[in-house]
Amino acid sequence: EKGGWSSFMAKEVSEEPDAVANTIRGRVHDGQVVIPELDGLDEIFTGIRRIIVIACGTAAYAGQTGAYAIEQWTRVPVSVELAHEFRYRDPVLGDDTLVVSISQSGETMDTLMAVKYAHERGAKTLSICNTQGATIPRESDAVIYTHAGPEVAVASTKAFVAQITALYLLALHVARVRGSLPAAEAADHVRELEAVPGKISRVLETEQAHIEQFSRWMADTQSVLFLGRHVGYPIALEGALKLKEISYIHAEGFAAGELKHGPIALIEPGQPVFVIVPSPRESAELHKKVVSNIQEIRARGARVIVVAEEGDAAVLPFADEVLHIPLAGPFFEPLLAVVPLHIFAMGLATAKGLDVDQPRNLAKSVTVE
Ligand code: M6R
Repeated sequence: EKGGWSSFMAKEVSEEPDAVANTIRGRVHDGQVVIPELDGLDEIFTGIRRIIVIACGTAAYAGQTGAYAIEQWTRVPVSVELAHEFRYRDPVLGDDTLVVSISQSGETMDTLMAVKYAHERGAKTLSICNTQGATIPRESDAVIYTHAGPEVAVASTKAFVAQITALYLLALHVARVRGSLPAAEAADHVRELEAVPGKISRVLETEQAHIEQFSRWMADTQSVLFLGRHVGYPIALEGALKLKEISYIHAEGFAAGELKHGPIALIEPGQPVFVIVPSPRESAELHKKVVSNIQEIRARGARVIVVAEEGDAAVLPFADEVLHIPLAGPFFEPLLAVVPLHIFAMGLATAKGLDVDQPRNLAKSVTVE
């Protein structure tokens, strides 16, 4: 039931704070992450030497986002792969490899086949899934459920933030078992994670009307680019996917550092570019580089829409629109920065008179390879 909302997608975006909060619930004890479903798996977590994350679409971008924290906190090397590419390159797998699959539906055939393949070759498999009892968790050695609630709109939104949350919980659980992170530091991350739902609510309260307004002005736009760096990079990819999917507008996400290696040639006067700006407090060096990217594209006439931390004055002179997100610790910004992008995709599709819940050519769950 849409419960008064104009679309399921609008309802589900409004539920992003709850999706995060409900996924954390019951998994934190005295400032430490203990995931009851992973009880008895300590030996696996201490024995692994590699983690491979596999998923498709938005779930893969959640994986790409989570990978930074998993590697940082557990000191286990992590790679992320599209599930449909994974099997076709004869990957090296063994019992020291943990394959983490991510799927909202738990029925995506590409992901399921990749999980089975990994299992047959002796890897340990853990799935992150939003649907109780779905096929992928049944085929996996372990599962962490995201508690985002049923997601009806084809475009995945609340499941995305819940997936990143589950990956952070997994990272903190494994880090505790492996002793790779001082307890005080882990407790800081837990506090940051627990503060995310309130901060997402703030973004929804303060930015929704503003974004809907400028997305209406952009209804005739032909193409939109998204730039990000580090954890902001998969968020740029996610922003572009959402726009393609429901507004049928050409959109591309790039790593900001890649601009000068080609994409800057696309910049011409009036080209809208979203830039996810890293926090100047948490990553001064990256922040400086992204601000200089903004200056480069602005000088070529781009219309720059920045997603930046509250109080980041350095971006103001170069931005046509500023979307603010509250201050957050390292790794937690993406959970906030994605929210304006979800609202924007929805606003633009609505302005074009499109059905945001049922975009053409797409199904909610892709059960064919
Ligand atoms: O159910 P899954 O999470 O396995 O689905 C994976 C993708 O098909 C899905 O995220 C798709 O990219 C979304 N429609 C994007 O909004």
